[in-house]
Amino acid sequence: LQVGIIFGGPSVEHEISILSAMQVLHTMENGPYKPIPIYISKQLDWYCDDALFDLDNYKDLKQLCAKMKPVQLIRQRQELMIVRKKKGLLKEYINIDVVLPVIHGNMGEDGCLQGLLSMYGVPFAGSETAAAAIGQDKWLMKQILEANGIAVLKWRGITVFQDTKQWQSCFDAIGYPCIIKPAKLGSSIGIQVASSYEEACQSLQTAFQYDTHVVVEPYLKQVREYNISILGDEEKQEASVVEEVMKNDEILSYHDKYEKGSKSKSMAGLNRIVPAELTDALREQMETMAKNAFVALRLSGVCRIDFLYDGKQLYINEVNTIPGSLAYYLWEESKVPFRHLIMRLIQIAVR
Ligand code: DAL
Ligand code: MG
Repeated sequence: LQVGIIFGGPSVEHEISILSAMQVLHTMENGPYKPIPIYISKQLDWYCDDALFDLDNYKDLKQLCAKMKPVQLIRQRQELMIVRKKKGLLKEYINIDVVLPVIHGNMGEDGCLQGLLSMYGVPFAGSETAAAAIGQDKWLMKQILEANGIAVLKWRGITVFQDTKQWQSCFDAIGYPCIIKPAKLGSSIGIQVASSYEEACQSLQTAFQYDTHVVVEPYLKQVREYNISILGDEEKQEASVVEEVMKNDEILSYHDKYEKGSKSKSMAGLNRIVPAELTDALREQMETMAKNAFVALRLSGVCRIDFLYDGKQLYINEVNTIPGSLAYYLWEESKVPFRHLIMRLIQIAVR
C-alpha cells in the first residue's frame, strides 16, 4: 500500500504538524507500507518530494518550497493520483491507496481535508468530515457531549454577532476569573484569562481576531490536567494509559506546549507524567468518559481526549481528532509500538 502522509497546512499548528509527520515518516521506514510525504504549504500549495523526508529542510520553509515543484491531485480510474511534473512535458503519476492525515488545526483537522479526500474517493485514517469539524469546534463539541450526559465545565457561547448586553449576561453567568477561548483554534492560541468584565471584553476582542465564535468557562485555579488517547472506531475502542500534564503558566501556553524544548520523547516541550499517578477508580472513569465521548462524537482512528479534574469531578476539556505526534508516546507506554499504531490506523481506514 502507498500511504499518503498529508501534513503542514495553513493553520497556526503548521510547525507542529511537520514534527508529527517527521515522526510518522521516520517510524514507517522499512515497514510494510510505503509512506509518500504530501506537504501543504502555509500558502496552500501541495508538494510531494524526497526533500520532505529530511527535518533539516524545514528550517527555511520558503527556501524549501522554492526547491520543489507543486503537484496536482487528480482522480483517475477510480484512484487518487499525485501528478508530478518532470523535465519537459513528462509527468509522473503516483498512486495513493490510503491517506494518513498528520495535520492539525483548521483545514486539516476540521473536516475540510476530510471532505476533499472523500470527494477524491480515497480511504483515509481518522474521523470523517462531520466528526472532524465538530471535534475542532469547542462549542459544538460541548453541546454534543452535554446532550450525551458527558460532563464538561459550565460554559457559555459568545458570538461577534451578539450585542454587549448578551456578552455581559454570559460573563455574569460564569463569573470571574473566566477563561475565553476561540471556538475553533488549537494549541492555546488566542486563549486568555480575565478577572473582570473590562478584561473579559478586551480578551473577547483578541479572541474575535481568530474566530467569530468564542466559549467562556470558569477559570479553575486548582485544577489538574489529564489526557488519554482512544484508538478504534464506533464499534470498538481501546484506551491508552493516562498522562498528567504539568503546567507553569496559568493556562498551558503555546510556549509551554511547543517551544520549551524538552528532553522527553513526547511530542513537545510539555512536562508530563506518563503514566499519571492516579487511583484506579479515576483512571477507569476517565477511560469510560473518553470512550463515550469518542462514540458520541463519532470519532475514528486515534484521538486524544483532554480532561480537567478539580479534585471532585472530571470534565472533558477538549478532543483532538489528530493529536500531536498521534499520541504515540501514550501508546508506547500501553505496549503498542508506534509502528503498530500506524498499521492499526491504516487497517481501520481501509476496512
Ligand atoms: N492540537 C495539538 C496538536 C494537540 O493538542 O495535540
Ligand atoms: Mg489541543
